Amino acid sequence: MRDQMVYFAFAKNDETKRPIGMNAPAKTEEFAVAQVQAKIPDGVYAETVLAVEHYTDRLFRFRMTRPAGFRFRSGEFAMIGLMVGDKPVYRAYSIASPAWDEELEFFSIKVPDGPLTSHLQAIKPGDRVLMRKKPTGTLVLDALTPGKRLYMFSTGTGIAPFASLIRDPETYEKFDEVILTHTCRDVAELKYGFDLVHEINNHEFLHEIVGDKLKHYPTVTREDFQYRGRITDLIESAKLFTDLGVPALDPAVDRGMICGSTAMLKDTKDLLEKAGLVEGSNNKPGEFVIERAFVG
Ligand code: A2P
Repeated sequence: MRDQMVYFAFAKNDETKRPIGMNAPAKTEEFAVAQVQAKIPDGVYAETVLAVEHYTDRLFRFRMTRPAGFRFRSGEFAMIGLMVGDKPVYRAYSIASPAWDEELEFFSIKVPDGPLTSHLQAIKPGDRVLMRKKPTGTLVLDALTPGKRLYMFSTGTGIAPFASLIRDPETYEKFDEVILTHTCRDVAELKYGFDLVHEINNHEFLHEIVGDKLKHYPTVTREDFQYRGRITDLIESAKLFTDLGVPALDPAVDRGMICGSTAMLKDTKDLLEKAGLVEGSNNKPGEFVIERAFVG
């Protein structure tokens, strides 16, 4: 059962409200010309796209070069942008790669007619993507008090910050057990998470560090699958804990991170508070944290 649950993935947004989005109708050629002609604004990085992978008509990821001086903590987000016409357009995106990685990875939604993602979804290797210099965010290990079991609750592209954290050795130094839940509408949308777990299990040094500490718990809400239902319902019914073979939430040992839609953040937060966990922040570490930047 445990092995079957080892997977994971990226972040989310609907572009107007959350981070990480990308959109729909791609004006590729027109866009490429505009990019070449556009003047890159001062004070931002302009990085080169290295790889793009499309999962569904709603989701894709890309990797790009990492500026030499760019430092971030695993789980943080950055403002990512493109020149659209003569203006830069930015949205908050969780950095999905870990802090040690030489490249940067992002997981994005494609929002039809989204100001950024309608263009971003058309990027190809060699294109340039803008990134503001200062990363930030609350889904960081420093914002949690010490514990034994770390839950990462995500829906859709909300898996992005956790894609970073599950590939960071520090996560496993601080916690004995790491449980990544990822809920999407259908199975195809879970693929990024499955790929991440596969990558970790086959990574030259990560697989030894992670061992059997990482449990992936993927669920879907709109088609048939081994694990079904909203994570909130699975917490309330305790099916999550039964499936994982762990006790109910306990503020003495359990810590949580939440990343998803506004409604999911609120509903999950309510359940953690009901279980006695107290929200923390960078200034005041606590028992769980939420990424509000992705919420409008
Ligand atoms: P559902 O299919 O029941 O709406 P989206 O793609 O719209 O961002 O949704 C991603 C996943 O988050 C879906 O499986 C969706 O379930 C689920 N979801 C939506 N709202 C909530 C909520 N308030 N609490 C928990 N899960 C939610």
